[in-house]
Amino acid sequence: MLSYQHGYHAGNFADVHKHTALCLLLDHFASNKKIVTYLDSHAGRGFYDLSGEQSEKTSEWKDGFGKLTDQSITTKGLELYTQAVARFQEDHTATSYPGSPALTQLLMQDNHHGVFFELHPAEFECLKENLGSDKRLRLVYKDVQNHLADFMPNRTQDGLLLIDPSYEIKDDYTTIAKLATFAHKRWKAAVIMIWYPMLPERRHEDLKANLKGATFYELIGPMKERGMYGTGLAVINAPEGFDNAFVKAADEMKAILFK
Ligand SMILES: C[S@@+](CC[C@H](N)C(=O)[O-])C[C@H]1O[C@@H](n2cnc3c(N)ncnc32)[C@H](O)[C@@H]1O
Repeated sequence: MLSYQHGYHAGNFADVHKHTALCLLLDHFASNKKIVTYLDSHAGRGFYDLSGEQSEKTSEWKDGFGKLTDQSITTKGLELYTQAVARFQEDHTATSYPGSPALTQLLMQDNHHGVFFELHPAEFECLKENLGSDKRLRLVYKDVQNHLADFMPNRTQDGLLLIDPSYEIKDDYTTIAKLATFAHKRWKAAVIMIWYPMLPERRHEDLKANLKGATFYELIGPMKERGMYGTGLAVINAPEGFDNAFVKAADEMKAILFK
C-alpha cells in the first residue's frame, strides 16, 4: 500500500533542482515538429497548493521555491523554471505549484503527447481531475514497474522518460535501476532522467552503481542530522547543451537557496 503524497514536499529544494532540469529538457523538445512522447513514470497528482494543509504542515517549499521569488535570475534553466511556475500560477492561483505533469503539459506542443503513471488511488483521482481533460495526455492507473513497456513508443521516436519514485520500498533503489536500464535498451532515442534522494543510509550509491552511461547531478542542502541531505538526478542521453546549462543553473540555485 502506497502512503507517500508529494503534497508535503512540493516546491522543496529537491523539486527546484528536478523541475529546473525538467524545464531545460522540455525546452529542448519545444521546437520539435515531430511527435514527442513524454513518459512520467511516477506522476503524483499533477499540481499542488502551497497554502494547502499538506504544504502548511512541512513548509518545505519555503526553503525551496519560496526563496526564488523576487530574485533576479540570470541563468537560462532557472529562468525557464521560474517563468513556467509564474505562467502556471497566472492560469491557476498565486499559491499553486506545478508538479512534473503540469510542467510538461504547460511546455509541450499540440502534436506531442504525454503518458503519466500514478498508482496511489487518491493521487490518481486528483491527477484525473487536474489534467484529465487534455486529449494529449494519457493517465494510467497502473504499476509502472509492470506496465512501462506497454506504453513506450518505438525505439527511434523522440521523447523523455522521467522516473521520479517515492523510494518507499528499500528495493526501489535496485528495481528503479533495472527499470531505467530496460527502458534505455527498448527506447534508444529517449532522454531518461531519474531522481534519487540522498539519505544518510546512502542507498542511492547502489542505484548509481547500476546506472550505466548516466551523468549524475547532485545538490547538497544545508547539513541536517537526519533526513534528506541532498538531491540527485541521473541523466542518460542528455541533449547537447543540457550539461552546461544545468550546471550553471544549479550553481545559481545553490547561491540563492543556501546563502
Ligand atoms: C515523488 S512522487 C512524484 C512527483 C512528481 N513526479 C512531480 O515531480 O511532481 C512519486 C509518486 O509515485 C507514485 N508511485 C509509487 N510507486 C508507483 C508505481 N509502482 N507505479 C506508479 N506510480 C507509483 C506515488 O504514489 C507518488 O505519487
